[in-house]
Amino acid sequence: MERTLIILKPDAVQRGLCGTILSRFEQRGFRIAGMKWLKVQEVLAHEHYAEHKGKPFFKELVAYITSAPVIVMALEGPSAIAAARATIGTTNPRDASPGSIRGDFALEVGRNLVHASDSLASAERELRLFFAKEDLFDWDRVTDPWVFSG
Ligand code: RTP
Ligand code: MG
Repeated sequence: MERTLIILKPDAVQRGLCGTILSRFEQRGFRIAGMKWLKVQEVLAHEHYAEHKGKPFFKELVAYITSAPVIVMALEGPSAIAAARATIGTTNPRDASPGSIRGDFALEVGRNLVHASDSLASAERELRLFFAKEDLFDWDRVTDPWVFSG
């Protein structure tokens, strides 16, 4: 079982696509271990996208991710990191397969709707940036998923 960090980016929020995108992940079978609404501040954007510092699109990327609120999620499942990357599609939506989120709802690399961690190391680092460990739900403790109060 793996956990991965997903961000529904500002364009997903502004275009009213959060529910639709979340449905794709739910339908695929991911479990939601954490979810929150926040406006990413510049410092956090720099940390999250540290690997892209110095690239020509970095300034634009930080402006994009900090431009409006986002929904951040920790999703879990078997091979969740690779599975979520396949569910979102390639970085440039122009090349993304129909059926993927980017392939169905986006056209521009600078407005590609959704983030998903790209490796185990990235997932662990990014999950720590956005969530305290105790905020993530431990599904293994739920013996009967229909009974949450016992
Ligand atoms: P993300 O990190 O947001 O999930 O996207 P990704 O792994 O598919 O792509 P990555 O290479 O990590 O790039 C991060 C984000 O930077 C923007 N980008 N713009 N103009 C460009 O050539 C360019 N390349 C990347 C995209 O918004 C991409 O999601
Ligand atoms: Mg990336």
